[in-house]
Amino acid sequence: FVCFQMRHYTVAFQSRKSIVSGAEFTHMPDNITVLEGDSVTLRCQIDEEVTHKAWLNRSNIMFTGRDKWTLDKRVTLLNNNSSDFSIHISKVQVTDEGPYTCTFQANNKPRLTHVYLIVQVPARIVNISKDVSVNEGENVNLFCLAVGRPEPTVTWKVHKYGLVSEGEFLDITEIKRQQAEDYECVTNNGVAPADKSKVKVTVNYPPMITDVKNMPAHLGKTAILRCEAMAVPAAAFEWYRDDHRPVESDNTLRIKNEKTRSLLLFTNVTEKHFGNYTCFASNRLGASNASMLLFRK
Ligand SMILES: *[C@@H]1O[C@H](CO)[C@@H](O)[C@H](O)[C@H]1NC(C)=O
Ligand SMILES: *[C@@H]1O[C@H](CO)[C@@H](O)[C@H](O)[C@H]1NC(C)=O
Ligand SMILES: *[C@@H]1O[C@H](CO)[C@@H](O)[C@H](O)[C@H]1NC(C)=O
Ligand SMILES: *[C@@H]1O[C@H](CO)[C@@H](O)[C@H](O)[C@H]1NC(C)=O
Ligand SMILES: *[C@@H]1O[C@H](CO)[C@@H](O)[C@H](O)[C@H]1NC(C)=O
Ligand SMILES: *[C@@H]1O[C@H](CO)[C@@H](O)[C@H](O)[C@H]1NC(C)=O
Ligand SMILES: *[C@@H]1O[C@H](CO)[C@@H](O)[C@H](O)[C@H]1NC(C)=O
Ligand SMILES: *[C@@H]1O[C@H](CO)[C@@H](O)[C@H](O)[C@H]1NC(C)=O
Repeated sequence: FVCFQMRHYTVAFQSRKSIVSGAEFTHMPDNITVLEGDSVTLRCQIDEEVTHKAWLNRSNIMFTGRDKWTLDKRVTLLNNNSSDFSIHISKVQVTDEGPYTCTFQANNKPRLTHVYLIVQVPARIVNISKDVSVNEGENVNLFCLAVGRPEPTVTWKVHKYGLVSEGEFLDITEIKRQQAEDYECVTNNGVAPADKSKVKVTVNYPPMITDVKNMPAHLGKTAILRCEAMAVPAAAFEWYRDDHRPVESDNTLRIKNEKTRSLLLFTNVTEKHFGNYTCFASNRLGASNASMLLFRK
């Protein structure tokens, strides 16, 4: 009996990627996977005289024979001949996901064949934290909202550490200056390449002078005093003499300010240049100072 059935009709479903054939009505429905927005063909071929045939979406009739019941313009019968009863769905939507049934009567016996349409959507970031600037010690809460079918994973990465967190929310308590990084959110569900986006976290802290040295100098020669300070935002530098007078540029002394340091450049050291210099580095979070000597060699 089964052989007789197999020989007299076959029912096949075909997607973009695969062709699945079968005339068994007892096994699990075949799955057809399609990307949202793509088109899909649901095949149903009937190689024998049938009295009635219909296509159902869940329990709703889409076609009975050649009569179209559904008002959906995206659904069409593929061929107009008696043995091919395949339908075509264009611009597939997420709501199209579900069971479809091709049903017909042959030899006065109803036949059903099912297919389960699975609609996939590439993982995509739909909203993500803006770049943030906080003071050291504050808490930082980042979010990265992603959509996709199947449900995508969301992870946070930092280039030099790799994975730092899983999930849409990344909470950093009492952030330290070393944690100032570009935090990259990566979302993936295997449907398309992962979607990625970065959040820049800036951590502000007051200046910390890291390196000062007393410097020997020869009369009539050049000399340099350096003051290096780490700070975010970058520090502003000022220089003072022992008697608290500000140091100013003149034709023998130049102040050169760079991003992380300030230099005192003596072009021709004279007696009056020897002494105690104080470097004062400040930003809106605070200040620090350090003193150094320019002494006769
Ligand atoms: C169809 O997909 C579901 C999960 O989406 C799975 O459980 C089932 O085994 C699949 N069926 C076939 C025939 O691949
Ligand atoms: C499809 O074929 C039937 C006869 O089998 C015919 O009556 C009908 O007009 C055809 N439809 C189209 C759109 O060609
Ligand atoms: C009906 O269409 C199918 C699919 O294109 C084709 O394989 C088959 O030969 C056609 N049958 C007839 C009788 O035209
Ligand atoms: C299938 O049925 C669902 C639920 O009724 C509907 O939202 C969807 O548009 C239908 N899809 C097609 C291709 O008919
Ligand atoms: C993204 O999320 C923020 C914070 O929840 C919200 O204010 C904003 O309106 C969202 N933007 C979009 C495009 O949904
Ligand atoms: C440095 O200053 C001294 C005293 O003013 C002067 O004699 C000398 O020529 C200067 N040297 C240079 C290289 O400018
Ligand atoms: C240099 O000046 C600073 C600030 O006025 C002072 O604290 C420090 O003791 C002085 N250093 C020397 C060697 O005099
Ligand atoms: C310089 O730093 C010392 C602590 O290192 C602080 O006591 C002093 O007030 C600072 N001076 C200025 C002018 O900020």
